[in-house]
Amino acid sequence: MQDLDRVPNELKTLRDWVRWGASRFQEAGLSFGHGTDNAIDEAAALVLHSLHLPMDLNAAFWDGRLTAAESEAVLARIRRRIRERMPLPYLTHEAWFGGLAFYVDPRVLIPRSPLAELIEQGFQPWLDPNAVHRVLDVGTGSGCIAIACGYAFPQARVDAVDNSADALEVARINVQRHHMAEQVSLHESDLFSALPAERRYDLIVSNPPYVDRDRMESLPPEYRHEPADALAAGEDGMACVHRLLAEARERLTDNGLLVVEVGATQAAVDAAYPDLPLTWLEFERGGEGVFLITAEELARHAG
Ligand SMILES: C[S@@+](CC[C@H](N)C(=O)[O-])C[C@H]1O[C@@H](n2cnc3c(N)ncnc32)[C@H](O)[C@@H]1O
Repeated sequence: MQDLDRVPNELKTLRDWVRWGASRFQEAGLSFGHGTDNAIDEAAALVLHSLHLPMDLNAAFWDGRLTAAESEAVLARIRRRIRERMPLPYLTHEAWFGGLAFYVDPRVLIPRSPLAELIEQGFQPWLDPNAVHRVLDVGTGSGCIAIACGYAFPQARVDAVDNSADALEVARINVQRHHMAEQVSLHESDLFSALPAERRYDLIVSNPPYVDRDRMESLPPEYRHEPADALAAGEDGMACVHRLLAEARERLTDNGLLVVEVGATQAAVDAAYPDLPLTWLEFERGGEGVFLITAEELARHAG
C-alpha cells in the first residue's frame, strides 16, 4: 500500500494526479456508484472539483501543473476517500441529478435515481405535461426529484415530503439554490400523513427506502455513510412500498400517475402483487426497478 501521508514529488500535472489517485483507489479496493462507476472517472472528478475546474475541461489543460497548495488539497481528499471510504459527493458537497447540481452531505442519500431520465423527458409518453398541476415527491431527501420536477413542469406546484427533519434542511438549501421556494413546498411527514387531506396530485413520484435486511448487511462501506433510514425498508425491503400502494390512490387525481423506484426489490414486489398491472420501465442510461401505475388501475385493483 502506498504512503498517503505526504505529497509524492513526482506528481506535477493534473494528468499525473488523476492517474495516481485512480491507482490508489484501485489498490484500496474502493466501491464506486455515487456519481461514477470506475476509479479513473472518480479520480478525475475529485481532482477537477478540487481545482474548481469543469468536468469537461479541454484536454489542453491536463498537462497544467498543480501548485503546492492545490496538491495538498487534492491529497487530503484522496486520503479521506480511501481511509474513511467517504463517498466523493460528501467530500465535495456536490451531486448531479438530471443535469442539475445539488448540495449534499451525510444527512441525505446521494442522488443517483434512474428517475432523472424520466423526469427530463417530462414522463413522456405517460403524462400530458400540460395536465400536470400538482406533483408530490415522497421521501425527497436532498430534494432532487421535487426540484427536477419543478423544472420539468414549470406550471405545477410541487410538494415534497420526508420524515427526516435533517434531510429537509438539506432539501431547503437546494430549493433556495434553485430559486424554487415559490414552486416547491417541503413538509415533514410520514408518507402522506401531514399533507392536507383534500389535496390530490396528478403525479406522485417516489424513490423510497427499499433495501432488504440481507442486502443492508452486505453494503460496501461507502453506503454506510448514507442515512440508514434512507435505504433500509424492513426484512423484505417493501415496508414503504406496501404503504405507498395502499395509500396512493386516495391522493391521486382520477387521471393521476404513481411512479415508484424499488430497485432490486422488483422481483419481491412482482411476487407480492401478481394481479397488479405494474408497468416496469426501461432506461436508456441504465437502471431498473421503477414501476408506474395509474390511479384508475389502482382503484380497479382495490375494488
Ligand atoms: C432512497 S432516499 C431518496 C432520496 C431522494 N428522493 C433521492 O432520490 O435521492 C429515501 C428518502 O425517504 C425518506 N423516508 C423514509 N421513510 C419515510 C417515510 N415513512 N415517510 C417519508 N419519508 C421517508 C428518507 O428519509 C429518505 O430521505
